[in-house]
Amino acid sequence: MRLVILDNYDLASEWAAKYICNRIIQFKPGQDRYFTLGLPTGSTPLGCYKKLIEYHKNGDLSFKYVKTFNMDEYVGLPRNHPESYHSYMWNNFFKHIDIDPNNAHILDGNATDLQAECDAFEKKIKEAGGIDLFVGGIGPDGHIAFNEPGSSLVSRTRLKTLAMDTILANAKYFDGDLSKVPTMALTVGVGTVMDAREVMILITGAHKAFALYKAIEEGVNHMWTVSAFQQHPRTIFVCDEDATLELRVKTVKYFKVISTLNMGLEFTNLQKWHAFLTSQQGDPGLHYTSKKGT
Ligand code: GLP
Repeated sequence: MRLVILDNYDLASEWAAKYICNRIIQFKPGQDRYFTLGLPTGSTPLGCYKKLIEYHKNGDLSFKYVKTFNMDEYVGLPRNHPESYHSYMWNNFFKHIDIDPNNAHILDGNATDLQAECDAFEKKIKEAGGIDLFVGGIGPDGHIAFNEPGSSLVSRTRLKTLAMDTILANAKYFDGDLSKVPTMALTVGVGTVMDAREVMILITGAHKAFALYKAIEEGVNHMWTVSAFQQHPRTIFVCDEDATLELRVKTVKYFKVISTLNMGLEFTNLQKWHAFLTSQQGDPGLHYTSKKGT
């Protein structure tokens, strides 16, 4: 497990975006070789999406050979509702990049047979060769995707009833009106995300500090489903300083030292892959220099 701590939200978003960008380039995607990316919604990843769009617009990153699978979708909310995760993904990301719409997979929360829809989603992930990098966010109660407290840590894509904490947290997107917030959702399971070859979880803000503490300093616990990723061989938690407020000083210091030691040790061959990765010194998340300049 790796914990990367950046000074603030903007830097954390930028680090995450550069990491995703580097991973895609490093993979060398092509016609017979798609990079498969799992994606979250919520306010946390917005800064990261903005940066990825910027890299794409600068001509440094293409999503032509990328397949995406989203974590979740509300049940019963029309696809074109402004708060559906379909609308979120198209408005905040997909419509600004060169992804083939057929390669952007989002669960259909209006399917007539919801479990069949979930099973088909799992099948599509398998057919795509599994997920190379699953990017996730968490709720303040430590849920990943919509795997609410108490979810099985080996769960697969399925229908979930939302916890009151989640409904309360999401009410801000529905005019603060609890009665407008959907109460059910389709979500990938914890097991679905665990199957990814690599997982990156974005956690920012003081309101997520207790969840980050539960995620990394206490044991694996199905009441804090994100804690399952302690057992994944390649998990990176990317957070800002505010999210570390409940961690021990010892933990924060340790991971800060590790980050320094990691400088220059990873991605040492990235220069070969892409001209814009101009330097092999420093943190891989900080390697980006646009072709158009900074
Ligand atoms: C919802 C989504 C999660 C997301 C969470 C956090 O619950 N299902 O996938 O991680 O919101 O949202 P935010 O980033 O707005 O705090």
